[in-house]
Parts: sequence; C-alpha cells; structure tokens
Amino acid sequence: MVRWISVLKKYVESTRQKKAIFSKQERLPCIAPLVTTVEETPQIVSACVRGHFPQWLRGYLLRVGPGKFEFGKDKYNHWFDGMALLHQFRMEKGTVTYRSKFLQSDTYKANSVHDRIVISEFGTLAVPDPCKNVFERFLSKFELPAITDNTNVNYVQYKGDYYLSTETNFMNKVDIKTLEKTEKVDWRKFIAVNGATAHPHYDADGTAYNMGNSYGSHGSCYNVIRVPPEKVDLGETIHGAQVICSIASAEGMRPSYYHSFGMTRKYIIFIEQPLKMNLWKVVTSKIRGKSFADGISWEPQYNTRFHVVDKHTGQLLPGMYYSKPFVTFHQINAFEDQGCVVIDLCCQDDGRSLEVYQLQNLRKVGEGLDQVYNSVGRSFPRRFVLPLHVSLNDPEGQNLSPLSYSSASAVKQADGKIWCSYENLHPEGLEDEGGIEFPQINYGQFSGRKYRFFYGCGFRHLVGDSLIKVDVVNKTLTIWREDGFYPSEPVFVPAPGTSEEDGGVILSVVITPKQNENNFLLVLDAKNFEELGRAEVPVQMPYGFHGTFVTI
Ligand SMILES: [Fe+2]
Repeated sequence: MVRWISVLKKYVESTRQKKAIFSKQERLPCIAPLVTTVEETPQIVSACVRGHFPQWLRGYLLRVGPGKFEFGKDKYNHWFDGMALLHQFRMEKGTVTYRSKFLQSDTYKANSVHDRIVISEFGTLAVPDPCKNVFERFLSKFELPAITDNTNVNYVQYKGDYYLSTETNFMNKVDIKTLEKTEKVDWRKFIAVNGATAHPHYDADGTAYNMGNSYGSHGSCYNVIRVPPEKVDLGETIHGAQVICSIASAEGMRPSYYHSFGMTRKYIIFIEQPLKMNLWKVVTSKIRGKSFADGISWEPQYNTRFHVVDKHTGQLLPGMYYSKPFVTFHQINAFEDQGCVVIDLCCQDDGRSLEVYQLQNLRKVGEGLDQVYNSVGRSFPRRFVLPLHVSLNDPEGQNLSPLSYSSASAVKQADGKIWCSYENLHPEGLEDEGGIEFPQINYGQFSGRKYRFFYGCGFRHLVGDSLIKVDVVNKTLTIWREDGFYPSEPVFVPAPGTSEEDGGVILSVVITPKQNENNFLLVLDAKNFEELGRAEVPVQMPYGFHGTFVTI
C-alpha cells in the first residue's frame, strides 16, 4: 500500500512537471537553415585553409546526420527522420577537401522512386499509397510497418569495416573513400535481436560490444552483443556475433528506451531508465495513425536502474543499483576502481526532450523558438559509483563507496537495493553554457580507464553552440565559441608519439545559418582549445549527429 502511495505521489509530481520551464533564454536566433534539405556535394571540393592543419593530421573525418526532410508533398515531422547525408573531410599535408553523398539506402531509393514517404521513420508514419483503392488502403493499415534502413545516427566499426547505424535491425556498410553503400546488413540474420544501438564499444583488439532488444513470448530482453574482431572469410560482415547476456525488462511490454551503454575493461553497464517504449502502441501504430515516437513516454514515477554484466563471462551481477529517475543518451566513460564501477554520463532530469525535437519546433522563430528551448531540460555530466561486492553483512544506511575522490554515494537499503546518488562532474558555470552533450574522450587510450578530460557541445540553443573541454578532476571548463556558429560533436585525434591524455587536436564541423558566411572544419589544440586552423567550405550543411576520425 505504502509503495502504491509513493508511486501515485511521484505520478502527480510528474504531471505537475508538464508546465516546467528549464531556462529563460530570450531572442534565440533562427536556426531553420540548419535543419533544412540540402544538395549533396559528390564531387570533391577543396577547402580554403586559414591558420594551419597539423602535417601529422592525415585522415578522414566522417560524419552523418539528416539532410533531406521531404519527398514530393510529404514532409517528415521529426529531426531524426531526415535521410542520411554522409560527410567526408579529408586531411592530408595541411590541406582539406570535402564531399557529401546521400546514403543510397533502400528507404531513400523507395521514397525517391515514389516521390513520397513510403517507409515510416521515428516521428513520421508513412501513409498508405494514395493510388490504392479505399479497401486496399484500409487493409494496409493492418500490415506490420516496414522497418527503415535510413541509418543516419553514427559510423560504427566491426572487424575493420565501417557501417552506418541507427537503432533498427539494419546497418549499411560503406566504402569510406567513395561514401558509397556496399552492403546492407540485418542483425536478425545473425542473432535474435531486433536491432542494436549506434554507440557500440570496442576493446583494444577490435572486439566490439553492443546492446539490442529482443521481443518474444517471454517478454522483452536487453541483450549484450559481442562481435569478434577478425574475419574468418574475407566477405563476411558481423558473422560470429553472439548474445552473451540477456537482461529481462522490468515490464515485458514496456521496455526502456536506451541510446548507449557503458563499458569498463571488464564490465558492461546497462541503464534501465524510465523512458519507456510501449510495444503495444508500437505494433498498432499504423492502425492508430501514430508514429513510433508516440509509443515512447517519460515516466518519472519509476527510478532509474543500473545493471552490471561481466563482459567476459556474460554473467549478470546480482547488485540492484537504483537512483532517482534520469535520462541519459550518451555515456562519457566508465572504469573500475577499488572494487567499484565508476560510470560518468550526460544526464537529464526530465526525459521529454525527444518529443521537442520536432522539425516544426526547430524551425520556429522569435518567442515561439524561445519557448521551445526553455521547455527542454538541460544535460549535465554526472558520476555514479557502483560497489560490486555487496554482501548481506554490509551495514544498511551507510555509503559503501570507498572512493575518497568522489562524492557519489551508494547506500544499501533494508530491501537490499543500493541507492546511488551522483557527483556533479562540472563547475557551476556549465549551467550558463546550456549544459553539455555529445561527449567524447581520448577513446583509444582512455576508454574503460581512469581519465581526466572529456569534450562536448554546450547547448545554449537547440543545437550545440559551443565546444567545451571538461576537466573532471579539477572541475574546470575551457570553452570555444563564435557567435552565430554551431559546432558539431568534437572528435579527439591523438597526436603521434604522445601518451598525454589531451595531447592532440579536436575536430568539429562548424556551421552557420548566415547566408554570407562559410561553414568550416575547425581544428583546436586539445590542451588549451586555441584554434590552430579552419578549413572553409562554400557548401550548405545541415546540423548532424555523430562521426569518427579514420587515419589514412
Ligand atoms: Fe547518439
């Protein structure tokens, strides 16, 4: 009874949150050109370099994001729906070139042929073919929706090959030199999952780990996936992929949505957050005339839970770690120390940001735009500490974290659960920068290890408007900003011959809605965030999601 009263109280609190205002920004500039359809630039364009790009910096910055938002008279509703546009910046001997191509996914091709939206996306339901008769259109509502292969979220790597990924069962393998799709891969042909995230993790030997859901008569499971690092046969893709652990969802028909997960050298950390996917709503979306996004709901009457899996044995650890409800989209880093898992995440206290990123919201002007921005919860970096070896003899009510350098606590409760409270990884000034997202680290040398620096975008607008380096030990910020310009996720590239954590450069694609200014690839010294150079490109580019650097 007491539990139900508690749940009811939280529900009432959550409904009160409906009118929440998270900030008081005014007179935000219009960014509509950054979320508008552009032409692809398939022919290589030379960039105009100002300053300099280091001679050692030799490779591709590959990025992906939405670049086409309508077909014929049909328009997409949500930012995540746009057709994948692949960007390639090539750096060599201090020079930079640029090209871009639309991914020739089956979805893109089908939409192009029919000159309308044929395949549903996250926030857009494809309507029945108007050329069908009324009866056929009615019946088509009862067909299962076709699944998109518009893989517009991230470049991922398996066995040395690059794939474009979203969160469905499909990935598209690409030739990173030509940006041409070479093969479409379906996770379901290899393992019993319905998809996988666009943020896998990698061991130093190339072994990849990912997570994906499965839905069956037993309910929903969150599955940990391992893909071996090497090919047995030349032409193979994700052959040899295995599910090494299945975690049952707290509610069979309402699993949590997740976008990434954490990994230390030994453990996978899965965060089951109260951002729920209603599978019944998803399955019936066509009949109800609703998009997939309609099936996702923020339910802060539930807490957030951490699950820890030994990635070598596949064993799910017994610890039951909970915290107050939050939503995370991107893990920063995680490591082990003194018998604990330390996990750092970009966290939001309000889980309704997905629904705000409708294209009509992003394209607003004036007070309407200010209202949209101020209705979105900001994202802040937080550390959680999960003690791994909790026994029946451990005292209740005491902090079980032995880590003197972290104020994060983990307190055992009477019911055996561990209640986790976070440590802020940032100084107060980060609120003024609009919080931080798109976190990146020196992944090659510090993923899964104790570390000091991460990089991200500040969000004083609905897209990133600054680049921020966070020192998580001394809690300091270093910021790069240029008014009217919007930088993408910062990618760290280590300089050769150094083992210093921030010995290298930061690459970011900086774009502007101003017609008379060029977009550019920015290179910063990762130590002090001083600009080394920029490569200007007279090409319109939309704001994208993620990318990677590949040495050539
Ligand atoms: Fe992401």
